[in-house]
Amino acid sequence: MDKLDQLVQQAATEFAAAADGVQLEQVKARYLGKTGALTERLKGLGKLAAEERRVAGAEINRAKDAIEAALEARRQALREAVLVAQLAAEALDVTLPGRGVAQGGLHPVSRTLERIEALFRSIGFVVADGPEIETDWHNFTALNTPENHPARSMHDTFYLEGHEDVLLRTHTSPVQIRTMLDHVARYGDRESMPEIRVIVPGRVYRVDSDATHSPMFHQVEGLWVGESVSFADLKGVIADFLRKFFETEDLQVRFRPSFFPFTEPSAEIDVAFMSGALKGRWLEIAGCGMVHPNVLRFGGIDPERYTGFAFGMGPDRLTMLRYGVNDLRLFFEGDLRFLSQFR
Ligand code: PHE
Repeated sequence: MDKLDQLVQQAATEFAAAADGVQLEQVKARYLGKTGALTERLKGLGKLAAEERRVAGAEINRAKDAIEAALEARRQALREAVLVAQLAAEALDVTLPGRGVAQGGLHPVSRTLERIEALFRSIGFVVADGPEIETDWHNFTALNTPENHPARSMHDTFYLEGHEDVLLRTHTSPVQIRTMLDHVARYGDRESMPEIRVIVPGRVYRVDSDATHSPMFHQVEGLWVGESVSFADLKGVIADFLRKFFETEDLQVRFRPSFFPFTEPSAEIDVAFMSGALKGRWLEIAGCGMVHPNVLRFGGIDPERYTGFAFGMGPDRLTMLRYGVNDLRLFFEGDLRFLSQFR
């Protein structure tokens, strides 16, 4: 029976050496399988006398129980090892710092637009808008710029094939017309019409491209129409706005006579800073003037009773001045190295 003890010992050692479940089942077959060592011994019992058979049978069964117990213990150990390995592999290090949420920011031109809107709201203006694909009539004709007028060529723009009457608007001034027509439709039958005071931020288009011109750029139109709106009001509003916008009193504003078909008289607005890198240089930032009587008429407003001023400024240029940017194209290339400096 020493031999049986040896067999049990040997089986236990081999079970322990099995690296995984598959190997373990192969080892098991060598002992408990149909032709396994123990099974062979049980078969051999038949040759023994009855008394010997009883004793030997009991011994073999004990050995079999011991081997089965060793097998089950090893199975259990392997299952646990698999689980432990799996837990280790899928472990989550809750102490790692998070990846964080990238923080976006407003585009510098959007910041300028919001700033302009806020400053004009504070003096009673409301924000209006209009379509970027505009009719030729709103963009030119109703702005006192008839077909063949030479001023049209200064506004070389993009036309839509097969739609001769529409174009990408060259300025935000067509919204002057839209605003007046809407206003008259709403209040025109009153004894006294409320004033129009709007600003119109938006995108405009021209065939133009270099360091200070982009085929798409921004404008902010302003329009104030009422019973006694004067050029003095225009000067006051603009000068006040610019000092607030640039946060300095150290600024000169100049109205230089100019021409626009839709205003009369007309002027360009220049600013010069009294200090800093741009000290003493006049920079053009807007066009303006008193709304031409023909334009008021196209808008359905009686020029004998109402007057108004309008201006159109370049917020891209204002942004360049405010932040010291020297190439307009940087605003529209979407390079985060540039844009993230404004967060
Ligand atoms: N629309 C003109 C331009 O784009 C600017 C302007 C607006 C001038 C309003 C006068 C009044 O150049």
